[in-house]
This record gives sequence, structure tokens and C-alpha cells, in this order.
Amino acid sequence: MILWVKALHVLAVIAWMAALLYLPRLMVYHADAAVGSDKSETFKVMERRLLRGIGTPSMLASWIFGLWAAWLFNVWTDIWFIAKLACVIFMTGYHMVLAHWVRVFAEDRNTRSALFYRFANEVPTLFLIAVVIFVVVKPF
Ligand code: HEM
Repeated sequence: MILWVKALHVLAVIAWMAALLYLPRLMVYHADAAVGSDKSETFKVMERRLLRGIGTPSMLASWIFGLWAAWLFNVWTDIWFIAKLACVIFMTGYHMVLAHWVRVFAEDRNTRSALFYRFANEVPTLFLIAVVIFVVVKPF
């Protein structure tokens, strides 16, 4: 069962990462679309469905199967796990910020530029690299 839990965990984090990387990319183009245009309205639907249909459910599944794996592997005091958890808590905070931005766009209240969202798009990549090194290499 321990390998099934880990496999379901990895599947969930792949879906979560896809949402964390694709959502800000949509916002890069949404920021340049005129308010009220068909393009802007289409982006609103895409952002809402990506967040609610994939992002949030896969984040919850990542946590459920991740904590279950932590319990089965009993890794609570391992330094690599604590470092990983710190990164994942940041990623969860970033997810909440994305959810807020989806709401801001949905209410036509966005004032940030496409360049801003280009930089925001790089954030999850940095955490992804750190998390995978911590959990696979276990450097400490
Ligand atoms: C949400 C909270 C998370 C918790 C509590 C958690 C916990 C764990 C645990 C306990 C394992 C098993 C480690 C082992 O095999 O010794 C694991 C495996 C793994 N986790 Fe997470 N994790 C979380 C999020 C993530 C995220 C966000 C990513 C990627 C971005 C990730 C990527 C992985 C990978 C790739 C493995 C398999 C490692 C291997 O088989 O060597 N995890 N996770």
C-alpha cells in the first residue's frame, strides 16, 4: 500500500504543478486583453475551471497522500522532509494568491501588467526544483 500511496501522491502533485504553472501564464495574456472583450471573458472561464477543476482538488490530494506517506514512512523529524514541507507551505500560499488573482480578473479589477505575471510564473518552478531535490536526493 505504501507504494500506491506514493504513486497517488506523485500523480496529484503533477496535476497541481500543471495548474500552478499554467494559471499565471493565462494571466500574462489576460492582462493584455480589453475588459469586457470576448477574449477576456474566455480567459475568466479558463482560469476559474483550471483553479476549481484541477488546481484546488489536486492540491488537497497532494496534501492528503503526502501526509499519509509521511505517516507510513515516519519521516516527521527528517530534515529533508521539514525543508520540503516549508517549501510546500509556501507553494500552498502561492496557490491562495493565485485564487485571489482569479477573483480579481473575474471582477475586472486587475491593474497589474503582463510582465508582472511573467515573473510570478517563475515562482513555482523554483519551489518545484527545491522540493524534488529534497525528496529524491534527501541531501540532509
Ligand atoms: C503537500 C504536502 C506534501 C507532503 C506532506 C509530502 C510528503 C511526501 C512523502 C512523505 C514522500 C515519501 C518520501 C519517500 O519516499 O521517502 C513523498 C514523495 C514524493 N513527493 Fe511529496 N509531499 C508533499 C508535496 C509534494 C510536492 C508539492 C511535490 C512536487 C512538487 C512532491 C514531490 C514528491 C515526489 C517526486 C516524491 C517521490 C520521491 C521518491 O520516490 O523518491 N511532494 N512526499
